[in-house]
Amino acid sequence: MTPRNIARIAGAVAVLCVVILLTDYAVASWRAPADDQTIKALQLQVKSEAALAPKLAAEQKRVTDARRARKQRDNILAWVLIAAASIFLTAAKQLAQPNPLWSRPSACHPPLSTHTATSRIITQPPPLDLTFVDQLVAREGRTKESAIILLQAIQTHYRYLPDEALQRLCQLTEITPAEVAGTSSFYGQFRRRPVGKHIVRVCHGTACHVGGARQITEELRRHLAIPEGTDTDAQREFTVDEVACLGCCSLAPVMTVDGHTCGKLTPSTAREALSPCEQTT
Ligand code: FES
Repeated sequence: MTPRNIARIAGAVAVLCVVILLTDYAVASWRAPADDQTIKALQLQVKSEAALAPKLAAEQKRVTDARRARKQRDNILAWVLIAAASIFLTAAKQLAQPNPLWSRPSACHPPLSTHTATSRIITQPPPLDLTFVDQLVAREGRTKESAIILLQAIQTHYRYLPDEALQRLCQLTEITPAEVAGTSSFYGQFRRRPVGKHIVRVCHGTACHVGGARQITEELRRHLAIPEGTDTDAQREFTVDEVACLGCCSLAPVMTVDGHTCGKLTPSTAREALSPCEQTT
């Protein structure tokens, strides 16, 4: 079931619960004075005519049972309402997030020769060529001792450690998936996620942070359409990293683009600094 349908159903259930609860409340508020009046009248009559006592008891029981049943029903409805509202919000949140993986080319979005983030066509990356891993293992050996050398070579070749390459490595060598995971997460040099052709490092050291590094990073991510939770755009053209002090605080806020330092930045000048790279991609 799609998030849209889930949101619709959950929303309808929530609205229905609210309507029933309000109706229940209105009916109960309307009935309560009449019930109370009836009981009071019977109580007065019982004082002069004891034979009416069973009728009073029966009336009191009826009113008490009705109120208890309404309370139980409202409790259940309240829980259903909370659950439906939670499901609705979760589904609505999913709907609000742009799908980072796919955007179908169409007449409305033709491929452009000029590169702009908002008009990029996202295409499926081709299957990974694993010939390099085969050749590497044949050259370097299959033993566990070669793990770091093999991982370094794979990272240099693919620019990160693709899952497919690591699986092939484990198939061809004595190295286990657990050892690969341990080694690649222990050493900061290894990267498990794809990296863009161009590396942008925005300094978030103290001087740059005070100078607006956060706004610069956000503007670059927005401009490059980098999906939430990642640091690389879908076409793998740009990676935007947040890094510690780059050692040139007098130029704060600072970033590097493929190793070239750009200082005294504003969000708009930071965006413009990417133009040469965008024109070559
Ligand atoms: S704090 Fe950014 S360069 Fe030092």
